[in-house]
Amino acid sequence: MDSTMWMHAWPARAGIVALLALGAAGARAQATADRIPDTMEERVKACIGCHGVQGRGVENVYFPRLAGKPAGYLYNQLVAFRDGRRKYLPMNYMLAYLPEAYLKDMAQYFAQQDPPPLQQPVVNRPAQLLVDGRRIVTEGIPARKIPACASCHGANLGGREPGIPGLLGLRADYVSAQLGAWRFGVRTAIAPDCMQVIASSLTEPEVAAVAGWLASLPVDPGVRPAKASNAALPLACGSHQPARR
Ligand code: HEC
Ligand code: HEC
Repeated sequence: MDSTMWMHAWPARAGIVALLALGAAGARAQATADRIPDTMEERVKACIGCHGVQGRGVENVYFPRLAGKPAGYLYNQLVAFRDGRRKYLPMNYMLAYLPEAYLKDMAQYFAQQDPPPLQQPVVNRPAQLLVDGRRIVTEGIPARKIPACASCHGANLGGREPGIPGLLGLRADYVSAQLGAWRFGVRTAIAPDCMQVIASSLTEPEVAAVAGWLASLPVDPGVRPAKASNAALPLACGSHQPARR
């Protein structure tokens, strides 16, 4: 009896179980197991429950969108969760012990996805707060040597390859949580950690202003991260090293 007949005679799953039970038919069992696809879609099934299909994000939930972020940035985050430099227990456990190559493949997969952005929740913030947020993002606070967020994240806030993420389509509570995490040392990027310097320099009201304004912006689905370049950054960022990649 050849394996094609097995597959016709049995429902696929029952066939696999039966084959695995037959020690003597080891080689044939292997041949059947090989037919279970080890595609990236299979591997990332564990992720999409929280991050949405194709990493699109989930309406009105804290879990961030992954799709279209620079692969280098996503990879750095996966390593940071694996190694405990970013903390969120389900992700810390899930990624523990996964090898670099596996993380790189997942980062690449989500970077290449391009599902349409979710509707941003309506942001009801005082007008003055939005004005302050816009000023900090586009001009920085020169008197305190805080560079404009846009000077690294891009004039259109789309991010830059390989290590700088876009800032659109994030929820206000997510942005303030990330800035808070840097400030309190719970999130650490590769040194020198420019975001740690920036987050620690901002006051609570400034963080609220920046997060509120960013979340109030519409998401243009055409905006992609800018190509890698050696253009100087206002502060050194260890996680953004165009020349080394
Ligand atoms: C139980 C829900 C959950 C699951 C499952 C999950 N994540 Fe996450 N993920 C989160 C949350 C929440 C955050 C943000 C944590 C924080 O506040 O820093 C996050 C953050 C991330 C980030 C950083 C995003 C950014 O913009 O900085 C990446 C990359 C990521 N997850 C990838 C994955 C991958 C790949 C998988 C599957 C192997 C996965 N996640 C599974 C909830 C989840
Ligand atoms: C000197 C360059 C630089 C400047 C200026 C800068 N950033 Fe960043 N930012 C980065 C880099 C690099 C990362 C990625 C760090 C990492 O790998 O975790 C980042 C990441 C972030 C993230 C995490 C996004 C996510 O998906 O989790 C947020 C939020 C952020 N920056 C907000 C800001 C805000 C707000 C400002 C202005 C007040 C700002 N940044 C200014 C370089 C910069």
